[in-house]
Amino acid sequence: MKQVNNFDRIAIIYDSLSKLVFGNNIQKAQTAFISQIPFNSNILVLGGGTGNILKPLIKRSPQQITYLEASKRMLIRAKAQFPRESTALINFIHGNELHIPRDECYDVVITPFVLDVFRDDHLLKVMSRLNKALNQNGVWLFTDFQGCNWYGRLLIKIMYRFFKMTSNIEADRLPMFNFHFQSVHKRPLEVQTFCNGLIVSVLYR
Ligand SMILES: C[S@@+](CC[C@H](N)C(=O)[O-])C[C@H]1O[C@@H](n2cnc3c(N)ncnc32)[C@H](O)[C@@H]1O
Repeated sequence: MKQVNNFDRIAIIYDSLSKLVFGNNIQKAQTAFISQIPFNSNILVLGGGTGNILKPLIKRSPQQITYLEASKRMLIRAKAQFPRESTALINFIHGNELHIPRDECYDVVITPFVLDVFRDDHLLKVMSRLNKALNQNGVWLFTDFQGCNWYGRLLIKIMYRFFKMTSNIEADRLPMFNFHFQSVHKRPLEVQTFCNGLIVSVLYR
């Protein structure tokens, strides 16, 4: 049976495709709250793709970044962006939420355009795991799509079809993000939207 949520096939074209459709909005949105990350933080990134989020994160002088990416090809591209000297700072792990290093406690969890691949019942488990790894006072930087108007909803439908075909993602539609954040007792501190409301970034605590 084909593996679910496997982005290997499109890793090579992912960034070009996302730029073609959304311009710089994907990068702007996923870095929206990075300036608020305290220096010397222990950071966990889930599903960072080819690693475009890493450069701005390194500027926050983190203690360490754990970079958990399920696609081997995405991970190879992320690693290639960084010379050897910075990799001591970044713990690249090929894996998923089940591979969060035990006993690690993070000040920051980042989920950039990754939680949308899960069905609601699975997403709650993923988010509970991430929440368990987050310090009580830690922050969670969430970025994803939201249905805003008919055009946005149509685009989201097309994207789900595309990622179902190319990456066998398990979800068929956007999960109930707000509901799940409430379930893990996270409150929004700040919100920014991009692309006329199609993309939302939220800083949760
Ligand atoms: C839609 S892409 C977003 C990539 C990147 N964050 C961006 O915005 O350009 C989703 C990424 O999440 C990764 N992914 C999917 N499920 C995952 C999981 N359970 N754990 C870690 N990474 C996952 C995929 O391999 C893919 O790289």
